[in-house]
Amino acid sequence: MNDMPHRVLTHDTGPPEPDHMRPHRSGTFGVLDIGTTKIACLIARVDSDGELRVLGCDWRQGLGVRGGSIVDLEKAERAIRACVGQAENMADTRLRDVIVNLTCGQPGSRIYNVKWSLDAPAEGRPVTDHDIREVLREGRHLSQAEGREPVHVMPLTFALDNTDHVVDPRGLYCSTLDARLHVIDVSSSSLRSLEACLQRCDLEIEAIVSAPMAAGMSTLVDDEREIGSTIIDMGGGTTNVASFFENQLIHTAQIRIGGVHVTADLAKGLSTPLAHAERLKTLWGNVETSPDDERDMLPVPRVGEADHHLAKVPRSMVVNIIRPRIEETLEAVRDKLAESGLSHATGNRIVLTGGACLLPGLPHLASRILGHDVRVGRPPSIRGMPEIFTGPAFATVTGLLIWAANEGGTFHDVDPRRGGRQSWFHRLVNFIRDRV
Ligand SMILES: Nc1ncnc2c1ncn2[C@@H]1O[C@H](COP(=O)(O)OP(=O)(O)OP(=O)(O)O)[C@@H](O)[C@H]1O
Ligand SMILES: [Mg+2]
Repeated sequence: MNDMPHRVLTHDTGPPEPDHMRPHRSGTFGVLDIGTTKIACLIARVDSDGELRVLGCDWRQGLGVRGGSIVDLEKAERAIRACVGQAENMADTRLRDVIVNLTCGQPGSRIYNVKWSLDAPAEGRPVTDHDIREVLREGRHLSQAEGREPVHVMPLTFALDNTDHVVDPRGLYCSTLDARLHVIDVSSSSLRSLEACLQRCDLEIEAIVSAPMAAGMSTLVDDEREIGSTIIDMGGGTTNVASFFENQLIHTAQIRIGGVHVTADLAKGLSTPLAHAERLKTLWGNVETSPDDERDMLPVPRVGEADHHLAKVPRSMVVNIIRPRIEETLEAVRDKLAESGLSHATGNRIVLTGGACLLPGLPHLASRILGHDVRVGRPPSIRGMPEIFTGPAFATVTGLLIWAANEGGTFHDVDPRRGGRQSWFHRLVNFIRDRV
């Protein structure tokens, strides 16, 4: 059985990977990250040598999205159409469907233990793909029974009669199969809105992928996913968290605070227009004070006053407005990780990504609040992809591409879709049915 899809790197980093570890998707495909502040689209194919090649791309300001969810269909449609259209023109192709990020509908992780009787003679019988499908289906039912829509159903581990910690039970004998499932589910109304929005753009959803999982795919190295690491994708309207351990995605969480809240705090605190607050943040922002902060005076236009009417504020004032919001965010992440009860596995290493992690001093502050090593994670460079996409703000969209190129993870030969046509929703649920 394969492990989770590997990072796709264009530069030569050592011995060639075995063929089964290379991206194996054929044809042209597109991915779309609909973020709160920006929309990014990549169109790619896997070259004959197994490397990914980007054929078209675009990114632009996001519209009609708040806190990761679509709140204005018309505006969101306009932005998505323009973004995808530009990428399509560059790739000289038209997309019918796309793989999109999941940040809407307050996605959350649940763990279910499912018991499946094989209805076998005393000595048992071999576990089949059908048994796995039934176990995964049961996981979906459990989530639906709680009024949620399951998007990912991933087996973490199996137990066969009295044998624990079985990774792939297929072909092994038993009478009872126990599975520990990690289900990521969301509120269904937000998903329907996402579907409606993409339909307006003449796009079908091929699959929907947890945004922080995608960010983890593009920024964590294999060893980090193996020994246990947590990726924190600090975006505009949300901070999304995904923890990996032993090459599996074991937990995700979302905090609905991001960079736009920091900007809004600055705008309010300094009575300055939002656009200027954003500029102040990206040019002069910091989460740590320095001795010069009292002396450095920054020009600040006041809301409603003429542009030339500038006030001067010490840089320390800017830092003192930014810092509490970042502390609040990181403390919320710490609480979510503690609530998960998985801190032994998730906290070994923290990787920050997303546009909002670019504030100077953030890794240091995060290390203090979360109590672990922290680094900033950037996506790898991919053939044909502009340099800007290797910035932290593009971790999700490049992760979606890597995910798409690998067509999901393990058990991809188990197809729970067998048996008739299914709705887009079932198709997308099923696409991500397996563990990473
Ligand atoms: N140099 C910088 N310093 C501080 N913040 C920055 C910098 N560059 C970008 N940001 C902030 O990053 C945020 C956008 O990040 P990103 O593009 O990852 O978010 P998004 O994907 O649109 O949002 P979300 O994932 O929450 O839906 C903005 O709030 C922006 O102000
Ligand atoms: Mg994002």
